[in-house]
Amino acid sequence: MRTHVDFLVIGSGIAGLTFALKVAEHGKVCVVTKQKMDDTATSYAQGGIAAVMHTPDTYEKHIQDTIIAGDGLCNEKIVRFTITESTDRIRELISWGTNFDKDESGHYDLAKEGGHSEYRVLRHKDSTGKEIEDTLIDQVRKHPKIEVLENHYAIDIITQHHLGIEVNIRTSDVTCYGVYVFNPKTNQVDTILAKVTLVATGGAGNIYSNTTNPTISTGDGIAMVYRAKGVIENMEFVQFHPTALFHPQERPSFLITEALRGFGAILKDYSGKEFMQKYDERLSLAPRDIVARAIDNELKISGEDFVYLDCRHLDKNDLIRQFPRIYAKCLSLGIDISRDQIPVVPAAHYICGGIKTDEFGRSTIRNLYSSGECASTGMHGANRLASNSLLESVVFSHRASQHAIECLSHIDYCNAIPDWNAEGMVLTEEMILVTQSQKELQAIMSSYVGIVRSNLRLQRALDRLNLLYEETEDLYNKSILTPRISELRNMINVAYLVIKQATTRKENKGLHYSLDYRKMKS
Ligand code: FAD
Ligand code: SIN
Repeated sequence: MRTHVDFLVIGSGIAGLTFALKVAEHGKVCVVTKQKMDDTATSYAQGGIAAVMHTPDTYEKHIQDTIIAGDGLCNEKIVRFTITESTDRIRELISWGTNFDKDESGHYDLAKEGGHSEYRVLRHKDSTGKEIEDTLIDQVRKHPKIEVLENHYAIDIITQHHLGIEVNIRTSDVTCYGVYVFNPKTNQVDTILAKVTLVATGGAGNIYSNTTNPTISTGDGIAMVYRAKGVIENMEFVQFHPTALFHPQERPSFLITEALRGFGAILKDYSGKEFMQKYDERLSLAPRDIVARAIDNELKISGEDFVYLDCRHLDKNDLIRQFPRIYAKCLSLGIDISRDQIPVVPAAHYICGGIKTDEFGRSTIRNLYSSGECASTGMHGANRLASNSLLESVVFSHRASQHAIECLSHIDYCNAIPDWNAEGMVLTEEMILVTQSQKELQAIMSSYVGIVRSNLRLQRALDRLNLLYEETEDLYNKSILTPRISELRNMINVAYLVIKQATTRKENKGLHYSLDYRKMKS
């Protein structure tokens, strides 16, 4: 099947849906999403969305907190406009129907998280992401000009390469004409031609064994843009959330929001002693990279599998009122957080790098925009400040939408694009090969490319990955296409980018910490 749309959006999280809603008055929109519409990391977000709403907070304080967390690698101009535009974007989310908690006097009941100098995180108890996602889905479903294709899987970005024209990346002449999409109803690959394409495919936590990310987070968009010769940057900066619930049978790992530490919960070691004073004066609320490394170190010293988060000194009623989901989840596992300590461990959570974009969300490929976790805008630098991700998504989807609307009338479809060529693919993919390779990939990344790295570990990871890469390319080229094998291929591409970019960073910065450069850090 072949379709033409003005705006093609890959992904139904906060980045994809806010963009879709904004461009829909200006043309036909198609949103492609690989599972159900709400199967997104957005739906999982707990803590909230950071924004400056009123005094004593100021834009300047939020800007400085973001820059400090980013360890010198944030693009200050990007940080400044993202934060000064935050209030307008929040008002828009509210106008669409999002409810953020208020206190008795009618003011927003703001939370505090690691690295924030003020209470500035808007939330909906501990289910902020679900509240936002449900609101956006509601709006999108009502919109007559937005078509949503659920369970459709984007495979590759279409460029002039598909016309048989060699692409010269140095002259940055790559143009995007749309996307090849796997249609589960026909088991065929459809060609969706678009004037403007937005890649909003989210993160890549599933390249690790332990992750807070849902199963959809396999780095597809980053891998697609990389194969299409777009620039991918800052992939070495993988954020590990310090406090995922220790429950080894469960994937994804359940998050224990940092807002709980903002509310007063304290990290303790296996024997019940506080330890953060050894690492940072901000204690349990130091920025995430510092807390995750501190826990990693404590676990190495003690040989235990987890540390504790202690809420027992906090008011039980407030605890249950503000964190009902965490309370219920822990209780379902026999942990009453008002009486028992919560066992926690770091887990892969967020990728700061990704598809390089400019201030309007434009990638280095013409007519291709990117927003959300898969994009690298310059906002987060070497380490993202908590709750800045949802914010970055709404700001950049807004900016990208305004730019794309202006450009639309100057863009034509490329009808010469051929349909997907499935010739020569005869092997029905063997699932066991795919699942086993995925587990091997996750083990490689967790063992050698985790919170603490070294040149030797990175080289070992690369050597192991090369074999997986060759086997998977061979399987992919012979197999009838399915999303599972394509996801594996994407995860291998993304893992390769993380390792390669980690190898070229010869210093310790933010989330990238190598034993080889320990002494260089002041
Ligand atoms: P997502 O919401 O992940 O959406 C990605 C979309 O792309 C999905 O619809 C998916 O199906 C689709 N997709 C992917 N690949 C394909 C493909 N090949 N074909 C078709 N569709 C595809 N950030 C904050 O700012 N505050 C928080 O409190 C917070 N808490 C978090 C808690 C958890 C447990 C997690 C996992 C993350 C949290 N984050 C938080 C991070 C934040 O939720 C994400 O970074 C953000 O939601 C990403 O939004 P997105 O729109 O870019 O991607
Ligand atoms: C959390 O609630 O701790 C997650 C916040 C984030 O990832 O920004």
